[in-house]
Amino acid sequence: MGAGRRGGTRATTLLLVLQVLFVAVARAAVGGGGGEDAGESFLRLWSDGGEEADGQQEDVFKWDGEEDDDDDEEEGRIMMWGKGTGRPPTCRNVVNVDSFGAAGDGDADDTEAFSNAWKTACSLENAVFLVPAGRRYKVGASTFMGPCKPKMIIQIQGTIVAPEEPSEWDPRSPRLWLLFSGLAGARIQGGGVIDGSGSKWWANSCKINKSNPCKAAPTAVTIDSCRGVRVKGLRVQNAQQMHLTVYRSRSVRVTGVRIDAPEDSPNTDGIHVAESTAVTIQNCRIGTGDDCISIVNASFNIRMKNIDCGPGHGISIGSLGKGGTFAAVENVALDTARISRAQNGVRIKTWQGGAGYVRGVRFSNVVVDDVDHPIVIDQFYCDAAGGAPCRSSTASAVAVSGVAYRNISGTSRRADAIRFACSDAVPCTGIVLSDIDLRRSDDDGGGEVQTVCNCAVGFDYGCVRPAVDCLRSSTCGGAPDDHPDHDDDKEKEAAETTPAPILHTEL
Ligand SMILES: *[C@@H]1O[C@H](CO)[C@@H](O)[C@H](O)[C@H]1NC(C)=O
Ligand SMILES: *[C@@H]1O[C@H](CO)[C@@H](O)[C@H](O)[C@H]1NC(C)=O
Ligand SMILES: *[C@@H]1O[C@H](CO)[C@@H](O)[C@H](O)[C@H]1NC(C)=O
Repeated sequence: MGAGRRGGTRATTLLLVLQVLFVAVARAAVGGGGGEDAGESFLRLWSDGGEEADGQQEDVFKWDGEEDDDDDEEEGRIMMWGKGTGRPPTCRNVVNVDSFGAAGDGDADDTEAFSNAWKTACSLENAVFLVPAGRRYKVGASTFMGPCKPKMIIQIQGTIVAPEEPSEWDPRSPRLWLLFSGLAGARIQGGGVIDGSGSKWWANSCKINKSNPCKAAPTAVTIDSCRGVRVKGLRVQNAQQMHLTVYRSRSVRVTGVRIDAPEDSPNTDGIHVAESTAVTIQNCRIGTGDDCISIVNASFNIRMKNIDCGPGHGISIGSLGKGGTFAAVENVALDTARISRAQNGVRIKTWQGGAGYVRGVRFSNVVVDDVDHPIVIDQFYCDAAGGAPCRSSTASAVAVSGVAYRNISGTSRRADAIRFACSDAVPCTGIVLSDIDLRRSDDDGGGEVQTVCNCAVGFDYGCVRPAVDCLRSSTCGGAPDDHPDHDDDKEKEAAETTPAPILHTEL
């Protein structure tokens, strides 16, 4: 250990040249003024964003010529009215679920009232679909189908709870509880709570009760086939399985969302992104029994900023390439995160035998606290119960390239704080680390930490602890035996591999 500086000078020079280039290109893009598209925003983020003023940084999160964030004032007025301190803004058509017969007592079934209120709200311009504060609405599987008239606001101020009993769940909707589909330009906001009442689902899970078959459970909130949707200031908790999924969508922004489920609840990912482009997840606090954020196939331009994660399995790209499938994920950036008491910090996981790529990934400014393995690339991801052999040195793999780790510090529970377990057939390339400072948690003896590599190529600069010399020698043929995954993705995979049939109680 500690010999990581060899050849550092050359690397540093190269990097300086690269950085100057990047900044120059970014400046030119910004200087062009006016129409700032996603590509330019992306360049700006990838230049050193830390030097920009706060106001400018906001721009990084604008996509596709989205209009300026003009909804804050609007939101304030609606909130005020909701609390009974004023009149509804004249320009807004407020559709209160109570007016459609919702009981809001946490006991009566309000599914139909929500359905009827939605039909009305969706048909009105400037509608506010209002779930009032201070009440508890029990709602079963529901689809909030668009497209609606422009400027829809879904204002959730009270609590929406799911029925508890899995055996009474609507069999037509095995994987979905609240589905928002086909919306354009809508806001989902209001400071309320969405509670999946998941405890019986967890107890039934094959991961908890081994005598049960593995089957999918509902995702609490699904944003499907939407464009320009914002989810802001909500709390989603105790989901039956995943909490919030962004699927087949574009330009979605999730901010100020809090997600909570117990550490031992199975497959309860916080935010799951699939087949989506230009998704921003910002200022979120997530603690569950699975990945805080997971990003899977056909996802591009995904930004995560200021994320507090833990407990859980960390922030993951994957799993990808199961069963020899093609997968593509490109341009993912995490900037500023605290990950505590989690299984992994930042992770990329792919199956043996897949095809496609993960490239252009950047993890920066992350503090880990008592995390098993803070930095992981695992191309040998495997479900041990899957039957087929997991490892074959000749198998193809989802190619991983261009992954940067910068300013990551904190404590690791295991000695192998950094693991680059890449495939012999398709090595990981362009792995770059800078300013890494990982130590062993005191509780675990406070000993040395190390980097474990197989077939990973790259370099480091600045202070990097533990040393990552193995990136320069790039030894293959010795896939680490004790790989860190304790996940059982079976139920999740069941939910993902067959596209969710989007047919339910049509609202
Ligand atoms: C596990 O599931 C089986 C079948 O559904 C059930 O009979 C049994 O009581 C469950 N065990 C526990 C510990 O809940
Ligand atoms: C991944 O997405 C691509 C489209 O980009 C699609 O062709 C492929 O079938 C997807 N793979 C899986 C496993 O769904
Ligand atoms: C490193 O990351 C931490 C945590 O996000 C942040 O507080 C700190 O300012 C960063 N340091 C630099 C030099 O960017």
